[in-house]
Amino acid sequence: MKEITKTHLKNAFSGESMANIRYKIYSEKAKKQDFPSISLLFEAIAYAEHVHARNHLRRLPEETDSAIAHAPFGVGDTIQNLEKGIEGEEFEINEMYPSYKEVADFQSEKKAAISFKWALEAEGIHKAFFEKAKEKIESGEGYKLEKINICSTCGYTTKGKAPDQCPICGADKKQFRKFET
Ligand SMILES: [Fe+2]
Ligand SMILES: [Fe+2]
Repeated sequence: MKEITKTHLKNAFSGESMANIRYKIYSEKAKKQDFPSISLLFEAIAYAEHVHARNHLRRLPEETDSAIAHAPFGVGDTIQNLEKGIEGEEFEINEMYPSYKEVADFQSEKKAAISFKWALEAEGIHKAFFEKAKEKIESGEGYKLEKINICSTCGYTTKGKAPDQCPICGADKKQFRKFET
């Protein structure tokens, strides 16, 4: 595997692993603050980040190294945690994954390019979920989420029922993991 793409996969694995834990912690915080739907949202999206981390890890050769990942640190209240979520997703959407994917394409690293592409597409959806939740809480309307489905192949995230086929990776309905209150 080409060196630069390999470094990018390690950084992306590290970033997604941290996002997974961060969202689980934000989920616990939301639960404590009596926001059950936001707690569910963070829990489900944490699983999508797990899927991304796993996809990146599986494409890496077996070796030991260090990785650098960009991440918002600290834990705030639920609104602040949604803002941190938006910030993290924006970095991935605007900088990280488009650049990593370009380099992987340039280096003909097809499997890495797919892993970056799948993550990029799901992160756009995550950002929209967090923005909507923040808006609903801030307006006083309240945020309700009963069911959310995550594609266990690519991390695609959708409210309500799972589609027959994943629009990102084509996985069957059976490959979706359901999260509900
Ligand atoms: Fe995400
Ligand atoms: Fe998928």
